[in-house]
Amino acid sequence: MDTSMTRSAGPAFDALEVRSDFPLLSETIHGKPLVYLDNAASTQKPRAVIDAVSNFYCHSYSNVHRGVHALSVRATEAYEGARDTMRDFLGAADRKEIVFVRGTTEGINLVAQGMTGSMGPGDEVLISGLEHHSNIVPWQMLCERTGAKLQVARIDDSGEVDLDEYRRLLSPRTRIVAMSHISNALGTVNPVKEMIALARAAGSLTLVDGAQAAAHMPIDVQDLDADFYTISSHKMFGPSGIGVLYGKQARLEALPPYQGGGDMILSVTFEKTTYNELPYRFEAGTPCIEAAVGMGVAARYLMDLGFDRIEPYESRLLQDATDVLRQVPDVQLIGTARNKASVISFTLGDIHSHDVGTIVDSEAVAIRVGHHCAQPVMDRFGVSSTCRASLAMYNTLDDVKRLAEALHKVREVFRL
Ligand code: ALA
Repeated sequence: MDTSMTRSAGPAFDALEVRSDFPLLSETIHGKPLVYLDNAASTQKPRAVIDAVSNFYCHSYSNVHRGVHALSVRATEAYEGARDTMRDFLGAADRKEIVFVRGTTEGINLVAQGMTGSMGPGDEVLISGLEHHSNIVPWQMLCERTGAKLQVARIDDSGEVDLDEYRRLLSPRTRIVAMSHISNALGTVNPVKEMIALARAAGSLTLVDGAQAAAHMPIDVQDLDADFYTISSHKMFGPSGIGVLYGKQARLEALPPYQGGGDMILSVTFEKTTYNELPYRFEAGTPCIEAAVGMGVAARYLMDLGFDRIEPYESRLLQDATDVLRQVPDVQLIGTARNKASVISFTLGDIHSHDVGTIVDSEAVAIRVGHHCAQPVMDRFGVSSTCRASLAMYNTLDDVKRLAEALHKVREVFRL
């Protein structure tokens, strides 16, 4: 597959045809055609998602689970239909295992909060040195509440988790292992299936932060055998403000409710409240109904395109893009793991990443600069920040060449 052509040549995947589904991607910024390379932060939305949310507002909007009137029934069917789609998307055994949350961050917090009562001094939580703050801080807070200890498996110079250390840190004290599927800062793809099997053999629960995986690879929670797996809609071409926490039914049953309110109860008196069944006991209050509907449409859009076509295209694009950026003098790649997806993190000489980001923005190229909510990863590589180009299926090598040209401009401005 030739990702250098404006239109990808193979019959397998046509990135430009996909791009034409995304209205925002044909915008101009500062008078120039937009190049959007900030997909790890958030992805753009296809017309199908935009139309679904708009149609829902125009024709089906009402609250869910509460009304006998026609619109409430329609809204409930759309919301619950989205749950079924997400069950299929994640390969879950049962729709009860699909909890709508605000996003990956809330999914992790829900589990960490729920484990409070069953943990104490002597227990341990194991994470990796690759994690996003959202897969660090909730576990630190759990440890503060319970006296448990946070263990961290280091990463090596390429940005891969040191599996020998990971094995060493697993013990009967390990109550849960929380790992990212793909690192948002470096793009490292963790061998999560192997890591889950090792954790299970040690008697530990597992949670996978799948925020960066959902747009790039098929997820099969049963094959992975994860106890919990959580994703965000906005990183997989759906609306923001919604995500899914998957949990094995028995694991979710074992967690206490996360928030109290409407919809998560069966009955309430001042003396006693009984809680609703799964998944509703974790969905207190009116959910972001329209976003759930949009997430379902985004998942369907991805399933229809097919990860068997998306994954090889993106993998080749990442390789070609890495080669192009390596050729820009003074570019230093941060994160060179053997198995990577969609992210290229780099520094440009000693130019501050914010200066790089600002100048490439003037060329209408959107990248993220900073610590990417992963300060321990930055510390590990001895940098305070990086520039990050993150790819999606609608990007082509021409986009990356535009970034490379913009980086040459940055070098000129700074007389490198
Ligand atoms: N987690 C998001 C990122 O990596 C915001 O940019």
